[in-house]
Amino acid sequence: MENFNFYSPTFFAFGKERENECGELVTRFGGRKVLIHYGGGSVIRTGLLDRVRASLEKASIPYIELGGVKPNPRSGLVYEGIELCKKEAVDFILAVGGGSVIDSAKAIAAGTLYDGDFWDFYEGKAAITKALPVGTVLTISAAGSEGSPDSVITKEEGMLKRGAGSDFLRPKFSVLNPALTQTLPAYQTACGITDIIAHLYERYLTNTKDVEVTDRMIEALILAMITEGPKVVSNPDDYEARANIMWAGMMAHNNSCGVGRSQDWTSHGIEHELSALYDCAHGAGLAVTMPAVFTYNMKHDVMRFAQIAVRVWGCQMDFANPCNTAKAGIEALRSFLISIGMPKNFKELGADEADIERLAHTCCYGDGSGSGTIGGFTPLSQSDVEAIYRLML
Ligand code: NZQ
Ligand code: ZN
Repeated sequence: MENFNFYSPTFFAFGKERENECGELVTRFGGRKVLIHYGGGSVIRTGLLDRVRASLEKASIPYIELGGVKPNPRSGLVYEGIELCKKEAVDFILAVGGGSVIDSAKAIAAGTLYDGDFWDFYEGKAAITKALPVGTVLTISAAGSEGSPDSVITKEEGMLKRGAGSDFLRPKFSVLNPALTQTLPAYQTACGITDIIAHLYERYLTNTKDVEVTDRMIEALILAMITEGPKVVSNPDDYEARANIMWAGMMAHNNSCGVGRSQDWTSHGIEHELSALYDCAHGAGLAVTMPAVFTYNMKHDVMRFAQIAVRVWGCQMDFANPCNTAKAGIEALRSFLISIGMPKNFKELGADEADIERLAHTCCYGDGSGSGTIGGFTPLSQSDVEAIYRLML
């Protein structure tokens, strides 16, 4: 195991009706003037926004609002939010929604206390050294942003989707009420489950030896997704299954399963180009990307793929030819994702073969700031990435 730092200070308020405690939680973490940030309207339709407002009012906390965050959140609204927070002297941001809303809130939080262009953080030109405190009320189990130090934003100019990370972006508190996810369409639920599984695979694919504890934690969480996932896709009101998935989504990405080991993140790098260009759901993009990446990278460490195939997917170990076991594990993952309603190829995702060269180039070089290779498991060049996109056809 490698040396590591792990700082995860988020307070989690988990369970039914906990959103009614927002006012107390904001007070507890020092907020005196709040920006409520939300998405395209689900929180209005479900009545959640009204409950959050009422809770702040009960605690006598003044607030302003900025809605309209789109899935794959854009830089334009972040600039608007930064201006608003400065003008209105906001000192706490409350994100009510999914990963997109939370990521947008984190970008505004860092940008408000920065003199330059907030995009500097996403291009790697500047490090985040301070941010306004952020709280969250999560409405979809997926991105893990409710416990993570990360934020992913798409810059409209060039549709460049990039991430920034800092412990300053970890939420001060997150309200996790599984019942809030019961209004999700089955497709979005399945996209979330896929993203959770992807966060676990990105950490499982490591070059660090002897990381049995985190290996076993990852395996346990994927196994739970395999049993709980189909329950909520077929029965949206299954509170207990939703509760398990919600906590797994947080555990999968606050990095408790990723400490002390190298990580991969190839599938995310390749997928982010797809959701930037085609505006598909991140989880749907990952469902198509992961099997292709794993097939391409399998030879780098066949035994790692064979291990997860046996321990998680219940495949028989073929000692004479472990490649067969590794492949069977990847096929089992693919079949599972299709069974919960995820797309299986480029076409179903709405992607176009003619864009492959451009996608691979942006993936490796960005707008000039990229290094030319991606991936922590095995470095991949533009031609490797092109080959992976072709496997998705
Ligand atoms: O905008 P509204 O109307 O709220 O609708 C949303 C949106 O259309 C809807 N939705 C959310 N909760 C709902 C609901 N509809 C009905 N009932 C509810 N309870 O679902 C749609 C998707 O929401 P979104 O926030 O985009 O989903 P998700 O949480 O999957 O976030 C995706 C974004 O997170 C980034 C992705 O790249 C993508 O941009 N990621 C962020 C990470 C992080 N910060 O740590 C890590 C991830 O790997 C990921 O890259
Ligand atoms: Zn993800």
